[in-house]
Amino acid sequence: MYTRISSRYCKKVLAFWEKKSYNICHISKKGRAQMKLIATVDNNWAIGNKGGRLVRIPTDERFFRFETMYKTVVMGRCVQEEFSAGQPPRDRNNIILTRKKDLKLNDVTVVHSFDEAMEAISQYPTDQVYVIGGASVFEQFLPYCDEAFITKIDYEYDADTFFTNLDKDPEWELADVSDEQTYYDLIYERCRYVRRKG
Ligand SMILES: NC(=O)c1ccc[n+]([C@@H]2O[C@H](COP(=O)([O-])OP(=O)(O)OC[C@H]3O[C@@H](n4cnc5c(N)ncnc54)[C@H](OP(=O)(O)O)[C@@H]3O)[C@@H](O)[C@H]2O)c1
Repeated sequence: MYTRISSRYCKKVLAFWEKKSYNICHISKKGRAQMKLIATVDNNWAIGNKGGRLVRIPTDERFFRFETMYKTVVMGRCVQEEFSAGQPPRDRNNIILTRKKDLKLNDVTVVHSFDEAMEAISQYPTDQVYVIGGASVFEQFLPYCDEAFITKIDYEYDADTFFTNLDKDPEWELADVSDEQTYYDLIYERCRYVRRKG
């Protein structure tokens, strides 16, 4: 025999799930969202030059792939163009920012403003969302991240594009540092920064 479920009960259950998904997806302007960020910087917190990367370190790229696989990544149109044939890998949810209304890509969410990006992001648990650059996207979304994976290369490149120096930002603190690693004569370490609480 089936128990008849009252509409009041249904409303209660719906309200519970609405509240729950609100808790998962809500992003506050004060940067209390739990998004993450991944970047590779040099000693001056430079990230790029003339529209390209400073250097590509295979283990760093593997770390990026491993960390973001099956997650959601948010990027600017310039970073999207760095992928082979402009097509980001399909084993992630890709959100791409552009003001070009005619940009069409397979299996990618194209958004045209910061607000549209936030709306797209809100479909996913925010702790599974990674901001992957470039500079303009890092700048807009940093206030909404609370964890940053930064590969620091001990070198000073010619550069024209920079990331915020988290060592000098009182809102951030260094939580973990890997052992020194090497790639040919380059020395680098992987750092994890977290947003200070309170
Ligand atoms: N070292 C690292 O970890 C790392 C990581 C990523 C990138 N990079 C470097 O960073 C540099 C690229 O940075 P970037 O700032 O020039 O490019 P970007 O952030 O990748 O892309 C900028 C483009 O994104 C779109 N966009 C950004 N904000 C938007 C918004 N609110 N609404 C709509 N569209 C928006 C615009 O596209 P449209 O022009 O199409 O309108 C804008 O021109 C390169 O040198 C790259 O190699 C370094």
